[in-house]
Amino acid sequence: MTKAQFQVFASARAAAKAAAAHIADMVRARPQTVLGLATGKTFVPVYAALVELARERGLSFAQASSFNLDEYVGLPAGHPASFRRYMEENFFRHVDLPPDRALLPEAGGDAATACLAYEQAIAARGGIDVQLLGIGRNGHIGFNEPGSAFDGRTQVADLTPSTIAANTSDFPPGEVPPPQAITMGIGTILEAREIVLVATGDGKAEALARSFRDKPNTDCPGSALQSHGHVTVFCDDAAYAGLKG
Ligand code: GLP
Repeated sequence: MTKAQFQVFASARAAAKAAAAHIADMVRARPQTVLGLATGKTFVPVYAALVELARERGLSFAQASSFNLDEYVGLPAGHPASFRRYMEENFFRHVDLPPDRALLPEAGGDAATACLAYEQAIAARGGIDVQLLGIGRNGHIGFNEPGSAFDGRTQVADLTPSTIAANTSDFPPGEVPPPQAITMGIGTILEAREIVLVATGDGKAEALARSFRDKPNTDCPGSALQSHGHVTVFCDDAAYAGLKG
């Protein structure tokens, strides 16, 4: 049985706000916190709540630094569906996190060099204090699709057709996501001192159940989290449905 703690809320909005409040508490307690950040629709209200705390309660990220989980390979700089653009629009441009300490994988050049450089940059900061994670409908974390090794490092990953389909709505009409991304590996993710997983909506119920109810198995990347000693899941009733009782 998993050691993960579950905080279950009546709505997605409440789960997002609680996750943001938890991150804010960590940053207040340790201003130099190294954040691992995630993208996806789930995190739009989480970043909105953090921005509100920054504006209205003086929450400062001036001494923090951040590493995002992943970035698509081959999108031109400034592409509206790049994760860099998502982060700028939802978070970075609204808070005082120094831009030179807000990193995403450099997916525009030589990938092998970029993957190694990313691992080195994380290590140079002393590792990630708290990693935010969403989960894909097929159980993927970051862009680590089913079958990914639980000890994988930052690498180029091939996206599954179901992930490409799920993320197509983030792209301008007529465009589809690139077939590859650079993602932190599951091993990289598991080295974070704390993990905060946010999952909302009934579309995530099966992935959450397979991650925390079933025996860990590479068919469900989220199940790797069972081996981590400090995971908190912020979810709504709909996403929790498969774990009830
Ligand atoms: C994406 C991201 C993940 C994210 C997941 C769920 O493809 N690479 O980091 O957690 O899919 O996204 P959403 O929150 O939009 O459902």
